Amino acid sequence: MGLDKKRRAAEAALAYIESDMVLGVGTGSTVTQLIEALKARKIQLSGAVSSSRQTSESLKDAGIPELDLNSAGPLSLYIDGADEATATCALIKGGGAALTREKVIAAAASRFICIVDDTKLVEVLGRFPLPVEVIPMARSYVARELVKMGGQPVWRDGVVTDNGNVILDVHNLRLKDPADFESAVNQIAGVVTVGLFARRRADVLIVAGDAGVRTFNAEPA
Ligand code: 5RP
Repeated sequence: MGLDKKRRAAEAALAYIESDMVLGVGTGSTVTQLIEALKARKIQLSGAVSSSRQTSESLKDAGIPELDLNSAGPLSLYIDGADEATATCALIKGGGAALTREKVIAAAASRFICIVDDTKLVEVLGRFPLPVEVIPMARSYVARELVKMGGQPVWRDGVVTDNGNVILDVHNLRLKDPADFESAVNQIAGVVTVGLFARRRADVLIVAGDAGVRTFNAEPA
């Protein structure tokens, strides 16, 4: 059931893809549906920039050539999932621990399309614990700073990111002003990336539910 909605969200995003483009590709089970749809429809890309080792494997299986972001030039489109999204296209991401590369590719792309099922749509971000990638020696310090900011950080024990760092998942947040919170967390020494995508939010949010697919557009900055 959930996978069916993810597949429909992914298929709706195909309309934004032009053949022979270089596509930025996110991480997660919804993105896996996108890669499978690209393969099934035999859509030819000139290449893809991957946000994780997991996605690189899926791209390889689908026969899509992977390009390094440094040599790909300007990216016109990035497509990724999210853990939580608002109708104004602000997101929480990083449930799959790929938030840093995802944030870099989103920043580098002219257009960011986010694909989710309707269980991810919320009024206020924060029900999903906010992932924060931290360099290992700063873990306890950053956790104490996050407590001062009202959160309850929990170390995602055993997880090491593709960049060799650790993740703190911050519980008990209700992010009424996510852009300000994103800036504040970014100021903590030792933080590599906070999984809030409120400053560079999605440009288009595609939400698949039982009744069909809805599309939300971010307000122009
Ligand atoms: C990975 C992410 C994913 O986009 C997020 O976890 C959603 O995953 P899924 O599509 O499997 O629900 O941010 O870091």
